Amino acid sequence: MKNLYKLIVLSGMALFLGSCYYDTFPEDTGTVPDEVSYQQDVQPIWNAACTECHGNIPPTLENGVSYTNLINGGYVVAGDSQNSVLYQSLLGIEGVSLMPPSGKLPDSQINIVKKWIDDGAENN
Ligand code: HEC
Repeated sequence: MKNLYKLIVLSGMALFLGSCYYDTFPEDTGTVPDEVSYQQDVQPIWNAACTECHGNIPPTLENGVSYTNLINGGYVVAGDSQNSVLYQSLLGIEGVSLMPPSGKLPDSQINIVKKWIDDGAENN
């Protein structure tokens, strides 16, 4: 009897979790995709929150040149967000100025950048 009860609870949970699945990734649900794409997930953050200043201030974060600037400029240590100046700037830690200066990005966006770096900072 106990096992049957467990089974019912578990299938209920499975149904509930299944209903949280999205076909397309919505604007700001506070979640991080399982696989982060630089072009589709990271660059839009730069476009919305950074390029107004980082069009001429290094690192230039405009679409098309941002990836090369971040990697070659040493702002990103692939696989190691904690030691990446880029990630530190989003948190305003380790003596790096908080970016954007007006206030932290939403956690979900910071975590997208973190995951992109920790997954190897690919140009994908
Ligand atoms: C209002 C203008 C402004 C915005 C918006 C802005 N930045 Fe900056 N950023 C600056 C300035 C000015 C500097 C250089 C001086 C400094 O470190 O404060 C800088 C420096 C940086 C640095 C280098 C830090 C270092 O210590 O070398 C990084 C990385 C950076 N910004 C990333 C970003 C990112 C990512 C965003 C968007 C999420 C962003 N910035 C948004 C003005 C801005």
